[in-house]
Amino acid sequence: MSSSPITSKDFKTPCYLYDMDLLVRTLDAIKAETAGYDNYHVHYAIKANANPKVLSCIAAAGLGADCVSGGEIEAALRTGYSASDIVFAGVGKADWEIQFALEKGIGMFNVESIEELEVINEMARKLQQRARVSFRINPNVGAHTHEHITTGKAENKFGIDKEDMTKVIRMAETMPLIDFTGLHFHIGSQLLQMDDFEALCIRINELQDELDSEGIYAPNINVGGGLGIDYEQPDKHPIPNFKAYFDTFKRGLQLRQGQQLHFELGRAIVAQMGTLLTRVLYVKHGKQKQFVIVDAGFTDLIRPALYGAHHAIQNYTAEKELSNPNSSDSSCSEICSKRATAVTYDVVGPICESSDVFAKDLSLPETRRGDLIAIRSAGAYGETMASQYNCRPLPQAHTTDE
Ligand code: LLP
Repeated sequence: MSSSPITSKDFKTPCYLYDMDLLVRTLDAIKAETAGYDNYHVHYAIKANANPKVLSCIAAAGLGADCVSGGEIEAALRTGYSASDIVFAGVGKADWEIQFALEKGIGMFNVESIEELEVINEMARKLQQRARVSFRINPNVGAHTHEHITTGKAENKFGIDKEDMTKVIRMAETMPLIDFTGLHFHIGSQLLQMDDFEALCIRINELQDELDSEGIYAPNINVGGGLGIDYEQPDKHPIPNFKAYFDTFKRGLQLRQGQQLHFELGRAIVAQMGTLLTRVLYVKHGKQKQFVIVDAGFTDLIRPALYGAHHAIQNYTAEKELSNPNSSDSSCSEICSKRATAVTYDVVGPICESSDVFAKDLSLPETRRGDLIAIRSAGAYGETMASQYNCRPLPQAHTTDE
């Protein structure tokens, strides 16, 4: 990646920088791959990145929203998503969130338990509003990803057991203000193997056969999100392989006449457009290791500490100096020759916990105090998962079109 547009601006660090051009190109790729299917509906999973400019840009591209809280529904409505394109998931919807969603007339609830169905029914009755309800079915399909972000196994807290599917639909049919709108699934996140989605398709086909035999028609099938991205080589694969993803469902699912197919993509849309910019505070020469101590910590990006996640890291300042060897600076050749020597560092943050590590044994050009460091592929589950632990301020965010 060219570092010049970034290093030429003097950002206060740590901060996120969102590449709006890449976001638009990613959305264009989704549009191109779904253009042939008028029954495909892509909802953006707001939990991945709720920056207002990012949200507006995605809404302007015509996507719906996948929300998991009243706050996310508010954010979606504020940034241009129409209520009817909002789907609302979550195992623990609070009463005020259900009421708010009913009052706003959202597209559908993805209901995760009988207990929740009963509360929605009761609230719909009080408000005299109809509620459109899909059931999240736990398909008991394993996914090849980190155990913290797999969701479709029987032991996970999500969804309704597939054995209870018919029972809950029959129950919904007895509730006068509940409209049964379909089935919802989500098996996990950061999935790179299409076999996982193929397994989901097979399971959905089986469940649909069961519905047929009961004479039940599900107008909507929602397959959730989960498409992964290349954290190792963000510049080689800035846009995920949407073609392979959508083709998998096209080939694998036996949709019934008129059925609408919904997707809830988060990471695949926003991860690669985000970079966490941070500056080197100190280069500490320990007994066994050299540490690059940066001003970002797990309060700004928790993924490495929480999931052992890998993010590519670059020293933009050193890269810039190395790419300009003929700079007018007389000491440049000396600097450059030192810079060109790769050194192995642990890149760590300032938080008082030993898990505050972005990378271990990473080879970087010789690194100095004040250097601008880029932590790549941080557009998804970065800013939205930030915290104020240690009384640290939340990270700021900028977009490249500012
Ligand atoms: N739909 C549902 C019901 C979900 O639970 C999720 C993500 C998505 C859609 C969007 O999934 P995506 O397309 O982004 O994979 N914080 C973790 C990821 C947690 C994902 C939670 N659910 C991480 O940083 O890897």
